[in-house]
Amino acid sequence: MQPRRYWNGNALRTRLFDGLSLLLPAGEEFVIRAAQDWLDTHPDADPRLRAEAGRFIREERSHQRAHRRYNAELHDAIPVAREAEQGVTAAVGELDRLGLRMRLALAAAFEHLTALLSAEVLRGEAWVDDTPRRECRMWRWHCAEELAHQHVAGDLLRSMGPLPGQRILALVLASVYLAGDAFSLTWTLCRHELRQGFVGRRELLAQAGRFAWRAFPGLCRIARGWGGQWLPAAR
Ligand SMILES: [Fe+2]
Ligand SMILES: [Fe+2]
Repeated sequence: MQPRRYWNGNALRTRLFDGLSLLLPAGEEFVIRAAQDWLDTHPDADPRLRAEAGRFIREERSHQRAHRRYNAELHDAIPVAREAEQGVTAAVGELDRLGLRMRLALAAAFEHLTALLSAEVLRGEAWVDDTPRRECRMWRWHCAEELAHQHVAGDLLRSMGPLPGQRILALVLASVYLAGDAFSLTWTLCRHELRQGFVGRRELLAQAGRFAWRAFPGLCRIARGWGGQWLPAAR
């Protein structure tokens, strides 16, 4: 293992969060557009809600800038990362064809899932090392802001009145989408590391096993929180 190459302890955990970072600029663009469209179409909404939406957009924009810088470095280190991110951006762009209510339902679902993961990242070191390294600090800053503004997209949706079953449908779609992309991006990056000989197959498997063991309690909490207060509101 090359310690400088892996800011998060080892290849598996580093490339997992690098893969998530590749997802984020496009995902954040999606939630920003949904919130901005809500602002544009609801000029007479509660001023407090409009202010919250504005703050939400500003925070997501600053996350987006940070992750674009981070991803540019990743593209240099791992050329396949650029192509992978472009694929994600094109796929997320397709979601813009949906109506505003469904886009807000998806945005609220993404924010809910992000908040569940953020809580685990901030809980200890099972997911992200707690060191002064730039990458670790960036993830902890991002996760703290995600926890603080997790309710905003849901509040915007509530102001429009979601259609019956829309929230649960959005949650299922967002979960499948997020889990599938996180897995495939992590695998793309890990496969590069294997091919370049930066890590061996057995070592990578051992890292995955150790990570699964440490993250298991957090994964259980995420599973419990998945439906959370969401399902009753879906009716
Ligand atoms: Fe964000
Ligand atoms: Fe967010």
